Amino acid sequence: MSKCAIILAGGKGTRMKSEKPKVMCEVLFEPMLYYVVSAVKEAGAEDVCVITGYEHQVVEDYLAKLDSRIVTALQSPQLGTGHAVMQARSFIEAHLNDDIIVLNGDGPLMDEATINRSFAYHKENNNAVTLLSAIVENPTGIGHIKRDENGTLLRIVEHQDATEEEKLIKESNAGVYWFKGDSLLYAIDHLTNDNVQHEYYLTDSVEILLNKGENAGAFVCENSEAILGANDRRQLCDLNTIMRRNINDALMLSGVDIPCTDGVMIGKDVKIGNGTQILPNTIIRGHVTIGENCVIGPNSYLQDSTVGNGVVLDNCKVLDSTIEDGVDCGPFVKVRAHSVLKKGVHIGNFVEVKNSVVGEGTKSAHLTYIGDSDVGADVNFGCGTVTCNYDGKKKWRCKIGNGAFIGCNTNLIAPVEVGDRAYIAAGSTIYEDIPADALSVARAYQHNKEGWVIEKKPYKEKK
Ligand code: UD1
Ligand code: MG
Repeated sequence: MSKCAIILAGGKGTRMKSEKPKVMCEVLFEPMLYYVVSAVKEAGAEDVCVITGYEHQVVEDYLAKLDSRIVTALQSPQLGTGHAVMQARSFIEAHLNDDIIVLNGDGPLMDEATINRSFAYHKENNNAVTLLSAIVENPTGIGHIKRDENGTLLRIVEHQDATEEEKLIKESNAGVYWFKGDSLLYAIDHLTNDNVQHEYYLTDSVEILLNKGENAGAFVCENSEAILGANDRRQLCDLNTIMRRNINDALMLSGVDIPCTDGVMIGKDVKIGNGTQILPNTIIRGHVTIGENCVIGPNSYLQDSTVGNGVVLDNCKVLDSTIEDGVDCGPFVKVRAHSVLKKGVHIGNFVEVKNSVVGEGTKSAHLTYIGDSDVGADVNFGCGTVTCNYDGKKKWRCKIGNGAFIGCNTNLIAPVEVGDRAYIAAGSTIYEDIPADALSVARAYQHNKEGWVIEKKPYKEKK
C-alpha cells in the first residue's frame, strides 16, 4: 500500500483574466500548482498524476522541468472536476490497492501536516473517501458539506445547486479528498452531469460511495486557511498575504529578525540562519540559502543564490550567485550569472559583477563593471574600472592576479591578463597582458599650453 496523488489542473480560470491556465498563476512568485505538488511530495506521495487541459502544453512543460517523474493526463474538453479525474483512469487502475489523494491545483495553502493528519483519519475510519473541509465565514461559491441532524455526512452540495438554506452552511469543501483506489474507480464510473452547470462533479463521489454502503467521512481542518483557493486576482493577492505572513512568522520564530515586514516577500524554499536581519522591501525567492548574522536589505532582491555568514547586502540585486562570509555589498549593486564573491569582498555603490569570480578581500568601492572575469585576492579596483568583455560578437574573459592595483577609470579590453601585484595607472586602456609586479601606463601624455586661454579666448564674453 502506498500513497499517490491526482492533481486537477485542467481548468481555464476565466475570472483570472490571464493567458495562463489558472494553476500557473503565481503566489510568492511560484505557480499555485508548485505548492500543491510540493505538499503531496512532502507528505510522501510516490506517484503523482496531473490532469491538464486548457493551455496544457504550458503546464506540461513546467512539470517536466520541475520533476520528470510526474505523469500527466489530458482532459479535452473540460467538463468538470469529476470528468478531470476520469482522464486518470489508467493511473487509478495501477493504484487500485493504494490510497489516492485528489487535490485541486488552485489551492496552494494545503500543507503537508494537514494532508498527513487527514490520511491518518482516513485510515482509522476505514473510509472509501475522506473529504477535507473547514468552517469558513463567507462560503459563497464553494461546495457546502451537508450532514444530517446527527452530524453524519450526507453529501457535498455545490453553491450553484444549493437551496437558500444550504447556501448558509459554513462547513466548506476544500477540494481535497483521500480515496481508496478501487472506490475512486467505482465513483468515476457512476458520476453524471445532472446539475445546474451540466458538469461531472467529483464532489458527487461522496454520495455515490455512501449509497454503495461504503464509509465516507469529512476531516475538518483546524487551519481553515489551508483550504483557500483563488479564482481571481484579488483572491490571489489574499493568498500572497497569507503565505507571506506564514513564512515570515515561521522565520521569526526560528530566530530571523524582521523588524518590519513591509514589502518583505520570502519564498517557501528560502533558508535563513539565526540572527540574520531582513529589512523592508526585500524579495528573496527561489532556492536561496542565507547564513547567520547577515543584514539583507533594505530594498534588495535575491534569487537562487547562496549567502554565507555575516554578509551585508544593502540595496542589492543578487541572481544565481554565491556570496561568501563577511562580504559587504551596496548600496546599488548587482551580482549575477553565477558570480562568486569570496570571503571579505567589498563591493560598493554602482558596481555590477557578472559571471565572475572575485577573490578574497578584493575591493571595488564604486562605479565599476566586472564582467566575465577571474579576479584574484586583495585586488583594488579604482572608481570607474570597466572590463570591456564584449567585442560585438563574442564575450571574452579578463584575468586579474592577486594583489593587483587597478587605477581609476581603467578599461581592460578582454581577453587580457593582469599579473599578480601589477599596478595600472589611472585612465589606462589595457589591451595587452601585464607581467607580475609591473607598472602599466596606457594613456595619452599631458601637454600644458601656458596662456592658451588668454590668447584664444574660447569662452563667451560675459555681459
Ligand atoms: C471545487 C469544488 C467545490 C470546492 C472548491 C474548493 C467541484 C464540483 N467543486 O469548486 O466543492 O468547494 O473546488 O476550491 O469539484 N478542473 C479541471 N477540469 C475541469 C474543471 C476544473 O481540471 O473540467 C480543475 C481546475 O483547474 C482547478 C480545480 O479543478 O484546479 C477546481 O476547479 P474549479 O473550477 O476552481 O472548482 P471550484 O468551482 O472552485
Ligand atoms: Mg476553485
